Amino acid sequence: MKAAVFYGPGIPLTVEDVDIQGPGPDEVLVKIHYSGVCHSDYRVLTGDWEYPKPMILGHEGAGTIEQVGENVKGLKVGDHVILSWIPSCKKCFHCISGRPHLCESYETKTETRRSLHGKPVYPEFRVGSFAEYAIVPESGAIKIRDDMPLDKACLIGCSVMTGVGSVINTAKVEPGSSVLVVGCGGVGLSIVQGAALTSASKIIAADLNEEKLKKAVEFGATHTIHSGKNDLIEEVMRMTDGVGVDYSFEAIGNVKTIEIAYEAIRTGGTAVIVGQAASGQKISIDPFEMSDREKKLIGCNYGSAKPDIDFPKLIDLYMMKKLDVDSMISHVVGLEELNEAFERMKKGKGLRTIVKIG
Ligand SMILES: NC(=O)c1ccc[n+]([C@@H]2O[C@H](COP(=O)([O-])OP(=O)(O)OC[C@H]3O[C@@H](n4cnc5c(N)ncnc54)[C@H](O)[C@@H]3O)[C@@H](O)[C@H]2O)c1
Ligand SMILES: [Zn+2]
Ligand SMILES: [Zn+2]
Repeated sequence: MKAAVFYGPGIPLTVEDVDIQGPGPDEVLVKIHYSGVCHSDYRVLTGDWEYPKPMILGHEGAGTIEQVGENVKGLKVGDHVILSWIPSCKKCFHCISGRPHLCESYETKTETRRSLHGKPVYPEFRVGSFAEYAIVPESGAIKIRDDMPLDKACLIGCSVMTGVGSVINTAKVEPGSSVLVVGCGGVGLSIVQGAALTSASKIIAADLNEEKLKKAVEFGATHTIHSGKNDLIEEVMRMTDGVGVDYSFEAIGNVKTIEIAYEAIRTGGTAVIVGQAASGQKISIDPFEMSDREKKLIGCNYGSAKPDIDFPKLIDLYMMKKLDVDSMISHVVGLEELNEAFERMKKGKGLRTIVKIG
């Protein structure tokens, strides 16, 4: 199969012929139709996060089931699926407690079923969707309705689930709340949409890029801050009568903006870290102020998703035109153009790029 292979930071991705086996027990072979380009791929590409190499990047994919392995009961050939980058074992403490997005059972799995010149090639986050095919555990492919276009469906597999889920599942934002979103890429714009869905009364979007701020308004932001030209905290305080916001969401993964997002919440407010920083970084907050003012700082992984029920729910919202995925896509490219897509991401240009594969 054709796949974009990553050898290491600074080395451009190359499209190569990678060998892929059939699915093992409890696994499925998925033909990838589309895969979105997420900033987490960029973190791997730059070496901010260290993983075994060579690797097939990509984790925001959608496609169709090509083959099913032994014991697979819930999926059949031809089913339309979105890939989930947290397959769940349905047996561990987290899974049985109703938090499948925290399942760690597949994290240490090393059998890849993909190889190049006889050596293993690893799939990023157990997906590896910048390729014609992926082998994933059954729970890593979520069946969706057939009338959902797969070019939009792929974005549900990471940015949309993470962003909307951070608002609805993780923070459980109440109607009428004030919300700040710092960083308006694919994840941040999905947070803006999630806030609009929950009827937040004030949705303040901040970014360094005018184009993103304009988009944020289309997605429901009521206020915008160009944080390169203005002081973010001053602006938030002015917009909230000096109180601060009920909820803030950081969607960049930058230590400074995480601290700013925390500073921007009111007494008793909640700051949510959605952006994922490079490994080993530390933030600095004042613990006395945190207790004295009952400020909350919480983390969010994958929008606290229960993919089996949340992906189909988000798709229904899309079909009802309550969730806009179409406007999040600015570029459709081939596997060969991935390097340019990451260049664009580095410069903060464009919205989501999707790769058309199948
Ligand atoms: N928690 C999770 O489960 C999860 C899931 C997916 C992605 N992520 C993380 O979310 C973050 C965002 O991902 P994305 O795909 O939306 O990225 P993106 O590159 O599409 O968007 C990032 C946005 O941040 C803006 N930005 C950068 N620096 C800024 C600054 N100093 N101030 C204001 N705005 C700034 C950029 O202009 C851009 O619009 C990444 O860290 C990614 O790893 C987390
Ligand atoms: Zn992602
Ligand atoms: Zn589990």
